[in-house]
Amino acid sequence: MLASGSGSNLQALLDASTGSPDFGAEIVLVLSDVPGCKALARAEDAGVATAVVAWSDHPDRESFTNEVCDRVEQAGASSIVLAGFMRILSPEAIRRFPGRILNIHPSLLPAFPGAHAVPEALSYGVKLTGVTVHFVDEKVDHGPIVLQEEVPVMADDDEATLHSRIQDVEHRVYPEVVKAFAAGRLHIDGRKVVWT
Ligand code: GRF
Repeated sequence: MLASGSGSNLQALLDASTGSPDFGAEIVLVLSDVPGCKALARAEDAGVATAVVAWSDHPDRESFTNEVCDRVEQAGASSIVLAGFMRILSPEAIRRFPGRILNIHPSLLPAFPGAHAVPEALSYGVKLTGVTVHFVDEKVDHGPIVLQEEVPVMADDDEATLHSRIQDVEHRVYPEVVKAFAAGRLHIDGRKVVWT
């Protein structure tokens, strides 16, 4: 699992993996580019191995990506789950983990890709935004969509209240998706993901 920030989605996945014997996936490593971030502390509290790969230790994205992928492989992981990981991986990651990288994004893609989805939805004035879980491909916030759920925007929302409502949905749906993925129920067919 790759995270850079608070790791609340990581926590939801840790809780799901430890709380239900039929979850079917084990988090074997939490890797971050941000030393000391809360996600790493959550992993340590749960007894999960951690690693830091610092962006500044690498000359370019390719080198950074290679170290991230090496660490993931060394941990014995077959797939990567991104949650608030703020670095863009090079296409090398897709080559090494084809159809095996998931991401969660706080909008209904293709609306509001990028790092500012929540404030951009607010300032655009949309009445509905939401959550997208997708497979990662070579473009940012672009790969085949696994699941989307809408979240209403209230008249008095600010960034914090809207993001909190979005995260309530994230924490419910991401474990469902990871469980389905681990069970081999998600099949990529072009841009579409078929659930079986
Ligand atoms: C989430 O809202 C996710 O959609 C976005 O970054 C945020 C990460 O939050 N990609 P957290 O670190 O899991 O609390």
